[in-house]
Amino acid sequence: MRHRLMAFLAALGLTAAAAACVSSLAARPSGPDPLAATGQWSANQAGQAPTPPMGWNTWNAFYYNIDEQKVMASVQIIVDSGLAAAGYRNVNLDDGWWLRRRQPDGRMIINAQRFPSAATADGETSFRPLTDRLHAMGLRAGIYSDIGRNTCGQAYGPDTSNQPQGSMGEREVGLYDHIDQDIALYFEEWGFDYIKVDGCGIRAFGAAAPRVRNGTYRELAPLIDMHAVSRTDIAAVRGLFGEVARSLARHNRDGDYTYSICLWGSANVRAWGKDVGNLSRTSDDISASWPRMLTNFDTTVTRALYAQPGAWNDPDMLFIGSGDFDADHMVEARSHFGLWAIVNAPLLIGFDLRRATGEQLALLGNRDIIALNQDPAGHQAVPAYLSEDVQILVKTLADGDKGVAIFNRGMAPIEAVLTAAHLKMDPSAPIALSDLWTGARTTFEKERVFAVAPRQTLMFRARGARALANGVYLSEVPGDINVAADGIVAPTADPTIHRSVTPWTRTRGPGEMPSYAGWGGAQADRSPFSEPLRMAGRIHEIGIGVLANSRLEARNRGFRHFSASVGIDDAAALRDRPATFAVYGDGRLIAQSRAVRADEGPVEIEADIEGVAILELVTRAAGETGLGLPVVWGEARLLR
Ligand code: GLA
Repeated sequence: MRHRLMAFLAALGLTAAAAACVSSLAARPSGPDPLAATGQWSANQAGQAPTPPMGWNTWNAFYYNIDEQKVMASVQIIVDSGLAAAGYRNVNLDDGWWLRRRQPDGRMIINAQRFPSAATADGETSFRPLTDRLHAMGLRAGIYSDIGRNTCGQAYGPDTSNQPQGSMGEREVGLYDHIDQDIALYFEEWGFDYIKVDGCGIRAFGAAAPRVRNGTYRELAPLIDMHAVSRTDIAAVRGLFGEVARSLARHNRDGDYTYSICLWGSANVRAWGKDVGNLSRTSDDISASWPRMLTNFDTTVTRALYAQPGAWNDPDMLFIGSGDFDADHMVEARSHFGLWAIVNAPLLIGFDLRRATGEQLALLGNRDIIALNQDPAGHQAVPAYLSEDVQILVKTLADGDKGVAIFNRGMAPIEAVLTAAHLKMDPSAPIALSDLWTGARTTFEKERVFAVAPRQTLMFRARGARALANGVYLSEVPGDINVAADGIVAPTADPTIHRSVTPWTRTRGPGEMPSYAGWGGAQADRSPFSEPLRMAGRIHEIGIGVLANSRLEARNRGFRHFSASVGIDDAAALRDRPATFAVYGDGRLIAQSRAVRADEGPVEIEADIEGVAILELVTRAAGETGLGLPVVWGEARLLR
């Protein structure tokens, strides 16, 4: 093909340079049109994560220094204290379990000094005895690997104690070139149910890395640049993680497995992690510090439209029990837990439970907060009010109630006003609140003032008359929406994420920039820049904000009518570029607006959606529009 093109260009008398240029254009990937309606739900549905995974992981408690005794001690407490019955069923080994990759057959060997039950009679090692034991206790078993040849511990661990041992090849314990072999071993032979796949191996072993230069590890040209998504080979990274997904499906015929992607928000994983895995990290590592918790929380809080049953945002594991969240800081611990619960984060305990107090176990076992997180409808909370000081988050629950968090981020007490509008409830009807920490019940109409102490998070379940009595706003049901194409042309880091001091560098160097390339992503009830939605000077408190040249998929649960007020957001820089708004039902065009210009004010769009399973909302504009053309699906709603 390329050959014929070159011959054709030569016949036209084009220079070699021009020919090369045209041929590289011709070589550009020409995948399917991302705006073409498919009638399909394209987010991941493989594996097992109908609600956010819950469990316990070794990392925050023990880092590399893990062993069987430590694991089983916490496991016993999880079972005896009732935490397992409350939902904490995944017991996940993190970095530190491996000894080496045997040569020449490449079989992974477990550190049996640390995991004695792994030493089998035939001189091999196997985790089957451990996973059998966990399964017999009603638990699931999780393992950890890296997508590259080498691991995070090998890149960043302080020393080589409890790192893989042996020759260079024996120390290459990551999945690279061994994906299918390792996945078959971990799932079919050893019986694991869950895997976390980290990414340091394709990020930290470039030629200049000190441990590559001194010959400890082999070079692997990095695919990820943590600080420049523009220098990251997104397609290659996605390709490798996709290979793992296919291997997992092959080696788990019953579909009972969970796939955790750990790319810390790099490689624009926001846009595709949900299509590949069951949970995907949105940020670099959490630490036991309040500011770091804020950083991690911020990478998830405005991403409700990027999470749905089967594919959750993961702001990293819980640090309750340590540092700023220890037994002397129960206000902070409760905030951390309540916030993770309401944004549908996985609830993975990272604490040596032998040290847990009764109060800490009671916090982790709070059934009302867990119920918020595990609500079967799977809608991540949406920010109803955002500031650097106070945030109000509202989560639609399966029975129509709303979960509410009022979060004071700062060190000053604050009076926060919760309104019926925040809850999308009728202001003239009573709203019943039950306090999820104290059990106290109250009722209010219109609005209610709450005193919120420094770092405190008030949590409620609210019941009232819906403002939209005969349907739902799409922004209330983010778990039923999948952002199939978000219109971002050049992914860039989100500047609104709290920048904290990292424990690993402290204030050495210039400071860390959170690498989450989420800027401009679609949002519920706000613009892609976290601002209120606004068309022709009027604010729309309800709707979906998204960039032009985007496609959203939405599940229709038996509604008959769709309507919205659509237009260009006032924040648009490309003011001369009209957009058209189209609604598809199961892949068929069912309604389309005329071309709408900036400042024109909203245009109404209506569609009959009776019998439609998947709606698609497609906004098109000419040329490359990127961050320059935010649009509004104002009051987008599904009606009976
Ligand atoms: C990375 C991950 C952590 C943990 C460590 C283990 O930093 O983000 O969650 O798994 O590796 O080395």
